[in-house]
Amino acid sequence: MAELEGLHFGKSDFVLLDEVTMEQFLENLKLRFEEGRIYTFIGEVVVSVNPYRQMDIYGNDVIEAYRGRELYENPPHLYAVADAAYKAMKRRAKDTCIVISGESGAGKTEASKYIMQYIAAITNPSQRQEVESVKSVLLKSNCVLEAFGNAKTNRNDNSSRFGKYMDINFNFNGDPTGGHINNYLLEKSRVVQQQEGERNFHSFYQLLRGGSEDLLKSLHLNKDPTDYTYTSQGAVAMTASTDDRSHHRAVMSALKVIGFSQEEINSIYKILATILHLGNLKFENEAENVQLVGGDLVMHISELTGTEVESMRKALLYRTVATGGGEVIEKGHSEQEASYGREALAKALYERLFGWIVGRINSVIEVKNYNPALHGKNTVIGVLDIYGFEIFDNNSFEQFCINYCNEKLQQLFIELILRQEQDEYQREGITWQHIEYFNNQIIVDLVEQPHKGIISILDDACLTVGKVTDSACLDSMNDKLGHHPHFTSRKLTPTDKTMEFNRHFRIRHYAGDVMYSVEGFLDKNKDPLFQDFKRLMFNSSDPILKEMWPDGKLSITEVTKRPLTAATLFKNSIIALVDKLACKEPYYVRCVKPNEVKSPMLFDDARCQHQVAYLGLLENVHVRRAGFAYRQPYDRFLQRYKMTCEYTWPNHLMGSDREAVEAIVLQHNFEGDVAYGHTKLFVRTPRTLFTLEQERTALIPILVLFLQKVWRGALARMRCRRMRAIYTIMGCYKRYKVKAHFWEVERRFANVRNMTDYGKSVEWPAPPASLMQFHRITQHLYRRWKARQIIKNIPPSDMAEVRAKVAALGALSGERTDWGFGRSWERDYLANARDCPLTSSNFVRTTKDLKNKDQYNQILFSGFVRMLNWFNNTKDRALLITDKHIYRLEPKKHFKVQKRIPIETVISLSVTSGTDQMVVLHTVSKDDVLVHLQRGQLGPNQDRIGELVGTLCDHFVRQRSTSLPVKVLSTGIQVHLSGKPKTITVETRPGQVTADFRKSRAGFILLLPPQ
Ligand SMILES: Nc1ncnc2c1ncn2[C@@H]1O[C@H](COP(=O)(O)OP(=O)(O)OP(=O)(O)O)[C@@H](O)[C@H]1O
Ligand SMILES: [Mg+2]
Repeated sequence: MAELEGLHFGKSDFVLLDEVTMEQFLENLKLRFEEGRIYTFIGEVVVSVNPYRQMDIYGNDVIEAYRGRELYENPPHLYAVADAAYKAMKRRAKDTCIVISGESGAGKTEASKYIMQYIAAITNPSQRQEVESVKSVLLKSNCVLEAFGNAKTNRNDNSSRFGKYMDINFNFNGDPTGGHINNYLLEKSRVVQQQEGERNFHSFYQLLRGGSEDLLKSLHLNKDPTDYTYTSQGAVAMTASTDDRSHHRAVMSALKVIGFSQEEINSIYKILATILHLGNLKFENEAENVQLVGGDLVMHISELTGTEVESMRKALLYRTVATGGGEVIEKGHSEQEASYGREALAKALYERLFGWIVGRINSVIEVKNYNPALHGKNTVIGVLDIYGFEIFDNNSFEQFCINYCNEKLQQLFIELILRQEQDEYQREGITWQHIEYFNNQIIVDLVEQPHKGIISILDDACLTVGKVTDSACLDSMNDKLGHHPHFTSRKLTPTDKTMEFNRHFRIRHYAGDVMYSVEGFLDKNKDPLFQDFKRLMFNSSDPILKEMWPDGKLSITEVTKRPLTAATLFKNSIIALVDKLACKEPYYVRCVKPNEVKSPMLFDDARCQHQVAYLGLLENVHVRRAGFAYRQPYDRFLQRYKMTCEYTWPNHLMGSDREAVEAIVLQHNFEGDVAYGHTKLFVRTPRTLFTLEQERTALIPILVLFLQKVWRGALARMRCRRMRAIYTIMGCYKRYKVKAHFWEVERRFANVRNMTDYGKSVEWPAPPASLMQFHRITQHLYRRWKARQIIKNIPPSDMAEVRAKVAALGALSGERTDWGFGRSWERDYLANARDCPLTSSNFVRTTKDLKNKDQYNQILFSGFVRMLNWFNNTKDRALLITDKHIYRLEPKKHFKVQKRIPIETVISLSVTSGTDQMVVLHTVSKDDVLVHLQRGQLGPNQDRIGELVGTLCDHFVRQRSTSLPVKVLSTGIQVHLSGKPKTITVETRPGQVTADFRKSRAGFILLLPPQ
């Protein structure tokens, strides 16, 4: 059931009609046709109405929409049937066939092409080369077959004048691996004669109008079809000649794609040319004999057929007759016989050419090297495009055969459709009620029954020696079939004046009454062709032509058995066809022609009614509805309609799908209209299904909204979960990085306690960004720990020096060029015998006294200095700093104390940033001590400023708990000397031997010798 189509397009399945009447059927068919819906289902059968215009419903998007879908999921379409056939073939490894029927111009051939196109489009997704080439040959073969087998008729500009059944073989993958074409009853009489307004086969016009100059010249032809008897009438039947030209090109290229060699193509055109020339031959009576008019034509014909001119001439004018006893005589034709013989030859040439082309295509597409053990089961889809029922004003032998063929197909249709229904009911355990339908077996028997049937009577008449006329044959039919309810003639019903005596008989076909004219029946059935022609063609030097005439191999005396008649041959081929179809799962396309004038607008009710009637479409609907119009497996039914019942939506909690389906049926009160099979639910009336469909359609938008809501929620939740997951992963990773850093720090520093440098050489791992602060703190902690370890090992005697150095570091590091931290600080240089060997003992004595006197505990610093005296003269003096006082001593007078100030009066220090040894001790009384330290023997270049500054700073912090600020200036130190502010600058002067102060304008300059 199509859900994409609204009801304003009519019902997409005739099964849904309220009442199955011709009126309702036609009304629905017409409405759909007018709404541009050319396809309608009857269950699985597609009814197609020829739109007579290009429809935009065959594109790739449409193919995609039908691919792999169930019938009811999309609107009715050929593709739906093609897909169903393909699916059945692929899923269940079933051979299937698609039977396309309908009258001339109803669209059978077009439908078969769309079906093949669909199958080609959905197969071989992996584009395997060999499969692609099979597909292209299958598709191209249509073009060639249409050129040689189709013609313009009054009913159809491209009417197939032969029946076609094509098998497509598939491998286990469902890809086409080959195929086979069977052709039926080519209308060869068209070669020599066409009805008014009709044409010969397309191939002739294509050759004449599309062939190159050279080609035509080599065939002794010219471009104008009116020059040839067989094409002159059709030449005026208007189809654009450009079409013939472009079709010629297309056919040439198709022949090449299929694999015809150039020699083969040449032979094909030579045969066509031969036929055209044969048509132009003229015979005239000359004396007793019949003669050919003009010699050129025979020469051309013999050249084109690769035969001797004389043999050709002879075959056209005489026939060889075997007398008893193995003797042979030549018998001249009458003019009529000669002309008849020529036409028979032309028809036979064309028929055999067509048969050979089909055979040649088959040899290309036939499945080769197929090994079922290796390649799996080989399955088949058959496509039958065969002439539909024909009723003309004058119905002859051909219509008789065609209508017989349709009777056979109808038989098959009834048989299969009913049998399938019956089988299914049986399988599902449903009681089956017999359906009354018209069984046309009786008509089939009328035609084909041995001894009694019409074909048998015709054959008997042909076998009878001597002249048997068509009317004699009719008499024989009257005798044998007089009581048959489906046969009548004027003789049998003299009151029926529509028929003529001795000429007409009527068969009541399942599709309607058809009156046949018996005229020509015997001849067409016998289809005689003089043996001489067969032998002549077999002896042709053209191997391809020779191949088409194997029966010419026998010599005249050998020919004994009569060939089978045309009707028997046809009957046999149709029986074989039916057998072939009967073992396949059938799918039907029933084509309807809406009007006689090829109009896309007109829906001719009477004509359509007629077709609906004889295609048995109403019966088809009846059969479909008689039992149960619809059936569906429980799970699928449930899936489709579960939203219409509260117990089944969204999911049921019952024991089985069947119980859930029962719940749906109960809720809707449909119990009386359904039956429960083993696996399927059967619905008797379409209305039930229709109600469900309507309810479903109403619910779908709500469900869509609901699903959208749920799905959006699901999407959001998914996104949220993903984000959370991302953050969790990120968190874990971060923790891992942190831990990894800890572990790494731990690993690297685990052993530092035992290392000689306490891990100074250990490199810190780079911390993650989040551990930057932690990293700094641990580094700091580590350094403190390391410092402690180092300090712990310093002996107490060295501690004072270390502390002083730390203090100096704080005060001078980075500010002063050199502060002597690299050496040991002796402090009391004046007492040091190595530094001052001459004066140290003297000084030690003095300090002993001073210690007693001033009660100091320790000497912080002592050394010789250059300094200014009260009169601002520079003098060499000694400086002694103890923990109590700062002394200025006169070295020359046994280190006599010249000045003594308490150490606490010092408030800050100033030094320069250079290498000079000047230091200023600023005092609270603005009487600063300005000295330049001098160095003794231990190191004339030692820097002692750092030592002095560090010692004093440390002393102040430790002993006095105050800090002693230290200023480091590059130059221009401000001092107060005896209360007066002075500026001391530093200068290096050439020629200066020792550092010394010199007066300047602002105060003093410390002059330094060059380095
Ligand atoms: N589906 C279609 N879309 C468009 N045009 C179509 C379609 N089917 C048929 N026709 C038109 O109708 C014409 C006749 O169709 P087609 O040749 O298939 O008829 P047919 O049933 O094969 O007749 P015949 O028995 O004479 O061979 C096509 O040439 C085409 O112009
Ligand atoms: Mg056709």
